[in-house]
Amino acid sequence: MALMSYRLPTFLVLCLLFSYVHGQPGQLALTFYQNSCPNLQTIVRSVVSQAIANETRMAASLLRLFFHDCFVQGCDASILLDDTPTFTGEKTAAPNANSVRGYEVIDAIKTQVEASCRATVSCADIVALAARDSVNLVGGPMWNVTLGRRDAKTASLSSANSDLPGPSSSLSTLISMFAAKGLSAQDMTVLSGAHTIGQSRCLLFRNRIYNDQNINTSFAALRQQTCPQSGSDSNPAPIDVQSPNSFDNAYYVDLVTKQGLFHSDQELFNGGSQDNLVTKYSTDAAAFFSDFAISMAKLGAITPLTGKKGEIRSNCRMVN
Ligand code: HEM
Repeated sequence: MALMSYRLPTFLVLCLLFSYVHGQPGQLALTFYQNSCPNLQTIVRSVVSQAIANETRMAASLLRLFFHDCFVQGCDASILLDDTPTFTGEKTAAPNANSVRGYEVIDAIKTQVEASCRATVSCADIVALAARDSVNLVGGPMWNVTLGRRDAKTASLSSANSDLPGPSSSLSTLISMFAAKGLSAQDMTVLSGAHTIGQSRCLLFRNRIYNDQNINTSFAALRQQTCPQSGSDSNPAPIDVQSPNSFDNAYYVDLVTKQGLFHSDQELFNGGSQDNLVTKYSTDAAAFFSDFAISMAKLGAITPLTGKKGEIRSNCRMVN
């Protein structure tokens, strides 16, 4: 009896471990393409690595592409679909237009993947892997990505306009918009650490640098130099004032020193519920890295299409 009660939990743990690695029908799995496309991860990493060597910012752009895919209809590559006379996609939505970048890199990966294993790997999985490699290649953590997402045959311009948070959002809005996707306030705060890399256009932080109170005055003055009160809307500035090309915990140091670029960033350290977590990440890069990997896995698991749902697109920009 004692032996039975010891063996049963062990058996259940082994079953759970097996299903996590190999997946159940309809679930994401680490080994999804192990036999059908064994070179997938090598191909993705090498194309992403080349793209970042050409332009460091591309790491940030590919990371954001994944976020904007997953928050709209789930991680289904809906963001990649081009508009046509008879199809309206998500690319013209306010948070995406003239803003989301990296579509050509996804195309380049897809071309190589198709050459190696035709009609097998989804664009949605390519986006998830490219985001992971982007983070890691500019100094961030590495983690395993579960796979098996399929590509949407539809897109939603209206969801792209309504479901993505904007830079003037309050803390309560940020928390509720992430909660609507099954993500906690902690997930929101740790995923916002993505702003340790990349750039923003002037029009998205102008109000903060001229009108917000909880901002370091020298930092505001620095940003005002290239972001005037009117005009020059597209002028870029690094989101992390210290090290915009390295994935590190400097974003949280920025927040603690009132140097968050967006109003929404500084909301995470403004006397509210996320202050303690921001303080912790500002001094503990290892904690930020391990929590970021966990929350990225949750972001990547938002309502994927699996099994027979959706399709494997042959061109990421159009349905088959
Ligand atoms: C918490 C709510 C968030 C808000 C309000 C927000 C807002 C923004 C805005 C306004 C920009 C600048 C866009 C432009 O200049 O056109 C931006 C850039 C960026 N965002 Fe966020 N974001 C949020 C969360 C996230 C998350 C969760 C991620 C990824 C996990 C992310 C990754 C990025 C990156 C990497 C960039 C720079 C992209 C580049 O340089 O191409 N953001 N974000």
